[in-house]
Amino acid sequence: MERSHAMTPRRVSLTVNGESFEALVEPRTTLVDFLRGELGLTGTHVGCEQGACGACTILLDGKTVRSCLMLAVQADGASLMTVEGLGSDGRLHPIQEAFREEHGLQCGFCTPGFLMSLFELLHDRPDPTDEELRDALGGQICRCTGYQAILRSARLAAAKLRGDPAPAGAGGT
Ligand code: FES
Ligand code: FES
Repeated sequence: MERSHAMTPRRVSLTVNGESFEALVEPRTTLVDFLRGELGLTGTHVGCEQGACGACTILLDGKTVRSCLMLAVQADGASLMTVEGLGSDGRLHPIQEAFREEHGLQCGFCTPGFLMSLFELLHDRPDPTDEELRDALGGQICRCTGYQAILRSARLAAAKLRGDPAPAGAGGT
């Protein structure tokens, strides 16, 4: 049976975490399925698949997107960053260190989305207010932590990236 044009695989070229990829993808493949299934980057999680939970958040050309709401073909030519791109040389990124030190995760399912959203915010706003942190992270859903530890982790992450001493409230209080 002949495939309809809409089903014909298309070639996409993109950069993920600094590495170039070219692949044939079906037009209906979501970006998160492409990252996880084709590239093996399973750090980006799939929760609701409808843009509500934020678990699939990645950076596309420096801006956060919900990769469950995009098709892989829409990322053709783009530069992506996933949670796997945060650390380097086997070392955690300071944002990841802050989440570990302040217990900003329990099951960890939501964590990649929080990390990527925070990465974007701290790139633009190295010294955010609590309100700005809440705004930036407000689209991410966590079922485990109650958010207070995440907020402490976010404050500590900002301090680490600025090279400041740990802020008041860090240390599990
Ligand atoms: S899986 Fe994409 S927002 Fe929930
Ligand atoms: S740590 Fe479990 S959902 Fe956030």
